[in-house]
Amino acid sequence: MKKFYITTPIYYVNSEPHIGSAYTTIVGDIIARFKRLIGYEVLYLTGTDEHGQKILQSAKEKGKDPQELCDELSGKFKQLWKDLNITNDYFIRTTDPEHMETVQFFVQKMLENGDIYKGTYKGWYCVPCETYWNEDETHRNEVGEHFCPSCGRPLNFLEEENYFFRLSKYTEPLLKHFKENPDFVEPEFRKNEMLKILESGLKDLSITRTTFNWGIPMPGDPKHVIYVWVDALINYISAISYGRDEEKFNKWWPADVHLIGKEINRFHSIIWPAMLMSVGLPLPKKIFAHGWLTVNGQKISKSLGNAIDPREFVKKYGNDVIRYYLTRDIVFGKDGDFSEENLVQRLNSDLANDYGNLLHRTVAMVAKNFDSVIPEPNELTESDKVLISNFKYLLNKYLEYMNSYKLTNALEEIWHYIGEINKYFDENKPWVLAKEGNKERLATILYNTLEAILRVATLLLPFMPDSSKEVFNRLSYDLEPIKVFETEWYLLKSGNKVFHGKPLFTKIDLSKFEKIAVKKEEPSKKEQASVEGVKLINFDDFKKIDLRVAEILEAERIEKSEKLIKLIIDLGELGRRQIVAGIAKYYSPNELIGKKIIVVANLKPAKLMGVESQGMLLAAKINDKLTLLTIDTDIEPGAKIS
Ligand code: MSP
Repeated sequence: MKKFYITTPIYYVNSEPHIGSAYTTIVGDIIARFKRLIGYEVLYLTGTDEHGQKILQSAKEKGKDPQELCDELSGKFKQLWKDLNITNDYFIRTTDPEHMETVQFFVQKMLENGDIYKGTYKGWYCVPCETYWNEDETHRNEVGEHFCPSCGRPLNFLEEENYFFRLSKYTEPLLKHFKENPDFVEPEFRKNEMLKILESGLKDLSITRTTFNWGIPMPGDPKHVIYVWVDALINYISAISYGRDEEKFNKWWPADVHLIGKEINRFHSIIWPAMLMSVGLPLPKKIFAHGWLTVNGQKISKSLGNAIDPREFVKKYGNDVIRYYLTRDIVFGKDGDFSEENLVQRLNSDLANDYGNLLHRTVAMVAKNFDSVIPEPNELTESDKVLISNFKYLLNKYLEYMNSYKLTNALEEIWHYIGEINKYFDENKPWVLAKEGNKERLATILYNTLEAILRVATLLLPFMPDSSKEVFNRLSYDLEPIKVFETEWYLLKSGNKVFHGKPLFTKIDLSKFEKIAVKKEEPSKKEQASVEGVKLINFDDFKKIDLRVAEILEAERIEKSEKLIKLIIDLGELGRRQIVAGIAKYYSPNELIGKKIIVVANLKPAKLMGVESQGMLLAAKINDKLTLLTIDTDIEPGAKIS
């Protein structure tokens, strides 16, 4: 039997799961169910990531023992996956003793292979992301504080004796692997981001910490604990008994796909493969990085009050509706917005109208005209043949899309076909045939419509298992679903009963629609600081900022600073000002003179390296590129920007 090994990231247990964390697991479940449906033996792995400073801090804040916190929250994740109908085959916890042993075994091998050495780490660390950042990767504000380029939260400066992994040694082997396996990382634009990192050369990675002990001890030097990401990544092989059960391990490794969110791509596409190369194991076949969900346009965050509990939605709308909405409305691979209004629209139109109602009215006609017994179809006309051949087309497209994780496209294709079934039904006017007493043709139309619905329900099994099974029940269908992939038309058995039942999906009256209330928690000061950068502002907030065009009159470097330049600018009616900007790495003083730039003119003055700055210029920055914002036609200094 062909096998398929698929994983989700393992979730941090510092807070409760929300719709964003459920997204990866739901998508993984859809893929796992699809592979089972087409005959694969599947291993679907998920779990929880329980070590590290972030979990320890969270336990301290809650006044709990870290293990107690992990047990409690890991239990919540497990329960949620049950509630969401997730069919994971195994659930790994990084505090499982087997996992901890495997991590030590793996790191010992890296040591033996000469890939680990002792050194001193000096640099920045983001606890929420559990990530090290180089000075030039960090974001800085006007007063020189450092922020995480990934989550925007404040960074801690670390200086510790650490063990290092010779990641730099794997730059070339990884580049070669990327070249030889062009589909290794998907989507393509995410792969290109990784290639850029590789092309600029990798730095060695600190892989132990000494300032706390909530982690797995370093073999032979237990005052060091192993970096939480190294610990966590190894879950993918410890779950399949690496170093403990060779047969099992060889059966499943390499994984077919690691499904991850975009922000943890570097760990999966660079660090993890390098670790595997270091111990001589094959690399996973694919890393697929999906986008991020926002809720009503905002980043998901407890303090914004939108960290919605997926259970609330399941209670109100049902599992299938959530699963459908998440894969239909949010293009898999891209960022997308979760909105309850859009969910209801999808429920009402796609599910209730197009799909549910089609089943309902067809079954109703079979009940009325054939005493609820599926009739024998008769000779096929052109329109029947088109319906059948369109299904063949759909099936091919479906397989192509599902096998390449284009889940949204697969659903679009299915709904296109549902549209064709509705058209077939309407154009053949079965109600007229019934009136005329043309039972022969009526039998064929109803049979074909039901057969098409049955086939659609099968293709929808991975996405909406409950409603697909309900369709099977109503049509007395009890064959293996795989038959749909193997057999020509006529799977439904004439003579079997159909059952009417309540609508497959219940519409929601939008005029009386009440949204699920989300409790807004008061943000802690720390959270507030991090959220500020992503909170939406209204126009009045924007109007508070006095943006002006300014002309640079003078520019000179500030002594003893590598980054700062002092500028004298002309702000027209506001007069001349002195501002200090961190742009020395990108511009020489001479090339600045005469440029017309944009500045914030009503910022409180601040001192940088002892020099007063009476405003701030605007610049766009990405990675290590920076460009000043200028204007594209000439306009006098002092002009207001609105
Ligand atoms: N513990 C690490 C992963 C270690 S894997 C060896 C971690 N955990 S996490 O809990 O922060 O995130 C787990 C997954 O949830 C990631 O794939 C992340 O992208 C996903 N999501 C968390 N919030 C999300 C959204 N708002 N939207 C979509 N997915 C998001 O990182």
